[in-house]
Amino acid sequence: MSEAVAASALAVLERNRRGDWTCPAAGIYPHQWLWDSAFVAAGLARHDPRRAAREILAVLRGQWSNGMVPHMVFADDEPDGSRRLWGSRRDLRAPRDVDTSCITQPPVLAIAARRVAEHLTGDDRQQFLGAVVPKLVGYHAWLHDERDPDATGLVTLIHPWECGLDTSPPWMAALRRLRPTVELRVAFALHITRLVRAVRRDTRYLPARERASDDDGLRMLDLATHLRHHGFDLARLAPGRCLRVHDVSFNALLAIADRDLLELADTAGVTVAGLRERIGTSVDALETLWNDELGTYCARDAVTGDWIGPPTVAAFTMLGAGVDEAHLDQLVARLRTDAWWPDHPVPSIGCDTPEFDSERYWSGPSWVNINWLLIDGLRRRGETGLAASLRQHTLDLVARGGCAEYFSPLTGAPLGARDFSWTAALALDLATEPG
Ligand code: GLC
Repeated sequence: MSEAVAASALAVLERNRRGDWTCPAAGIYPHQWLWDSAFVAAGLARHDPRRAAREILAVLRGQWSNGMVPHMVFADDEPDGSRRLWGSRRDLRAPRDVDTSCITQPPVLAIAARRVAEHLTGDDRQQFLGAVVPKLVGYHAWLHDERDPDATGLVTLIHPWECGLDTSPPWMAALRRLRPTVELRVAFALHITRLVRAVRRDTRYLPARERASDDDGLRMLDLATHLRHHGFDLARLAPGRCLRVHDVSFNALLAIADRDLLELADTAGVTVAGLRERIGTSVDALETLWNDELGTYCARDAVTGDWIGPPTVAAFTMLGAGVDEAHLDQLVARLRTDAWWPDHPVPSIGCDTPEFDSERYWSGPSWVNINWLLIDGLRRRGETGLAASLRQHTLDLVARGGCAEYFSPLTGAPLGARDFSWTAALALDLATEPG
């Protein structure tokens, strides 16, 4: 079975290859996305480390002069209205030769780069480290400084698209609580939200029931437009009108990525001032996201401290983040419950949550990138049996349903885009792991 999965995964990655980088899926996602490319590189590291290295360098061509790495780098030859939404070239900090978005995405690039560096040799390795380490240092410094101006140890996100689990219920709940802009009030009053369908790219390719609602789609666009008026700058955002969230998986992954960056920098012989201390502060700060009543980690409003529920699969990314031992034990016990371990784990929200919808995007389906992160976290925790079982479940999903974007946790049915790159790359990694 593993050979068949590996062969079909490699074919998908070949079809989605666009020169030095890989698009998430042809048609629906024609550009380069930050964490998608990181997963592609991580998954390809063992098989083709030089291609994986190029994938990382390609996404870094979008890096801004302030260190920010944008969540999208637009393909030159793909007309797409969404590049106008950002208008990146109006910002002097953005690159001059490519269009990018103006917000970021989960910082898994250093995690991928560490894996890639492990598999490169000789000059290739030295050149890769020399090119990548300073850029990653700049990126992490931007996250810790500009997105955590009060040095709380937690990074603040300003848009659901930054968290990667874009439309997950806590983010949509927070978005719906925002005071709507005049434009949005008019759109809702005139019932023109359905017009959004005409400009949405995803529902041209996929059934609407598997995607975010038009109302939520419009809210996300409206928030992006509002952010543009404030230069996408956390310091300039008005409370009540904008989101400021201490997101669980983004911060957990940053803690893991900081450690990998430290290791990469050591190997490259580069000293990164303050990074070791920052890791300690961040890990302590992650505990402020522990919700004792719910027995799991939860997102919080970064200004008011209010919990933003319901809890999601994001909590389990803490397994690899070096947080409190007792909390990790509770997390593992929680993962073993029926709500989190249905026939095809791991659902993006618990199957017993009112918002659970087995087919809708980040409101229920199981995702291969999340499973891959959890397998790693479980192994770090010494939970090798559970990790092996999750690996097998994940490979079974892909063997039966192909490299789909996501899967029903109840039936295992493939959902979302087909021939999805991170599913392919990470299944390749799992299928070809040395014994
Ligand atoms: C969706 C996902 C996001 C991903 C992007 C491209 O927006 O929610 O995580 O990066 O698609 O695949």
